[in-house]
Amino acid sequence: MIKLSINVDHVATLREARRAEFPQPKEAALLAIKAGADGITIHLRGDRRHIKESDLEVLKKTIQKPLNLEMAANPEMLSIAKKYKPNLVTLVPEKPEELTTEGGLDVNKNFDLLDDAIKRLREEKLKISLFINPDSDSVNKAAELNADFVELNTDAYAEAGDQEKSKSELENLKKMAKLARGLGLGVNAGHGLNYQNIKGITIIEEIEEVSIGHAIVARAVIVGFEKAVGEMLELLKK
Ligand code: PXP
Repeated sequence: MIKLSINVDHVATLREARRAEFPQPKEAALLAIKAGADGITIHLRGDRRHIKESDLEVLKKTIQKPLNLEMAANPEMLSIAKKYKPNLVTLVPEKPEELTTEGGLDVNKNFDLLDDAIKRLREEKLKISLFINPDSDSVNKAAELNADFVELNTDAYAEAGDQEKSKSELENLKKMAKLARGLGLGVNAGHGLNYQNIKGITIIEEIEEVSIGHAIVARAVIVGFEKAVGEMLELLKK
């Protein structure tokens, strides 16, 4: 069964909407784990629009499941990763004006920068994943960079619109997952996944873990966190 890491960024988004003390990502993370989630993901952005460094500190201390830290490959974030030692560091591209991560890393353009970041993270024995678009060039470059995992960007699949496009995006994800696995990379996937489109992903046996945020937090507002996580786990089982 594909593992499920719950991204709790948008619990912090709700908190920050009022610059309040609640809701706390930690509370949501504990409920997610109680409901059976395999891990927790957070994205610490340069502008700290949702998750703060203090959330990272608290989550690292509190949760008993793996913590995946998504972050940009810049000096500030590298030193934060070294300080808190999450179980996985997922390097992502980041633009201050974007609503959410727009696309995977441009691995070609940023090869040297990523190479340097990965070497620095390795000094602390951290595991590294690269969030990439599902194309063979990006997968091959991720292997050259010696990453432990790739996280395949599922956005094109999630946003496909019609069935034919959705099928071809899924085929492509499957091919890229196989390629990555063949090159010795672990394969994760995420972005835009929800209760409707997750089913397609479950047929890709190379995928070890999905990270899902918005859809689950949105559902949790209506039915509660444990139920929202439980419903997704049920779909992953099938
Ligand atoms: N993976 C990455 C790299 C992301 O940046 C995000 C969004 O924070 C997610 C997965 C989760 O995406 P969503 O919120 O659409 O489930």
